Amino acid sequence: MSAPQKGSPASAALALRQGRLVILPTETVYGLAADAGNPRAVASVYAAKGRPAFNPLIAHVADIDAARRIAVFGPDAEILAAAFWPGPLTLVLPVQPGGAVCDLDRAGLDTVAVRVPAHPLARAVLEAFGGPVAAPSANRSGRPSPTTFDAALEETGPAAAVALDGGPCEVGLESTVVALLDTPRLLRPGRVTRDQVEALVGPLAEAEADARRSPGRLTRHYAPEAPVRLDARDLRSGEVYLAFGPAPDDAGVLNLSPSGDLVEAAANLFAFLREADARRPAGIAIAPIPHEGLGEAINDRLRRAAGAVG
Ligand code: TXA
Ligand code: MG
Repeated sequence: MSAPQKGSPASAALALRQGRLVILPTETVYGLAADAGNPRAVASVYAAKGRPAFNPLIAHVADIDAARRIAVFGPDAEILAAAFWPGPLTLVLPVQPGGAVCDLDRAGLDTVAVRVPAHPLARAVLEAFGGPVAAPSANRSGRPSPTTFDAALEETGPAAAVALDGGPCEVGLESTVVALLDTPRLLRPGRVTRDQVEALVGPLAEAEADARRSPGRLTRHYAPEAPVRLDARDLRSGEVYLAFGPAPDDAGVLNLSPSGDLVEAAANLFAFLREADARRPAGIAIAPIPHEGLGEAINDRLRRAAGAVG
């Protein structure tokens, strides 16, 4: 991997369409952006960040009409969007059925985090691209979010095809995240303050204690109906087998990645779990996945699918 090309909004939109990654300035922090509808591109964002688990990613869109195509807006969402968009507020809402944001972006949740950023370069890219853009902060996992172009390049630049220099970020702190699912809840404080939000929609409940580490606890992760058997080295009668690496070409086998590529496996994971489950098998057996790089996140998600994690 080499240094990314310093680009324009048009070249950034093209890169996104090709499934490549873009360093994207926003008013809060720099993001590492990908087409939110392309699971392979989203998987490479997780890989570049070195995230140990699939935390769901924010889908960025150009305006509220685009937001309504991916998320279901209730009255509170309409009020907060009208008051703070474009700007540093993210809303977690029920996912719009048939919307463009892929399962992997949402970490398999039936909710989606949406934001309309205010930065002119981010807006230009979103308008040129047309669809939702996943953009977690451009830092590697466990490090602070980059608020300058140089810091963003240093963190995840090598993973990006194009990088846009938007100067230092005005806010410098990630967006405020408010979930509007059951009762309005503050998941992450930010520039848009609790008081500002409460003035419009009433009291905000606290995030559950470990919500930021395990957002899956806030709402249901996709879990198959069929029992899931992990680290399976053989296929038993009535099971669908999710293979990884070379495997027999059998009707009961869905191969997450014949070549043993973790990025490809992550991109296929949620779709294959759904497909396996749709066949109503006696069980879903899953091959051992190496516990390295993106494998850690895949295994974390698989343990949840198997019901081994709360
Ligand atoms: O300011 C920002 O929001 C930046 C810029 C680039 O837009 N992005 C950012 O993304 O901070 P990220 O991925 O680093 O943080 C997203 C936060 C995480 O805490 C994640 O758990 C939460 O949003 N989140 C995303 N989708 C969620 C969902 N469906 N349910 C609950 N929390 C969600
Ligand atoms: Mg972050």
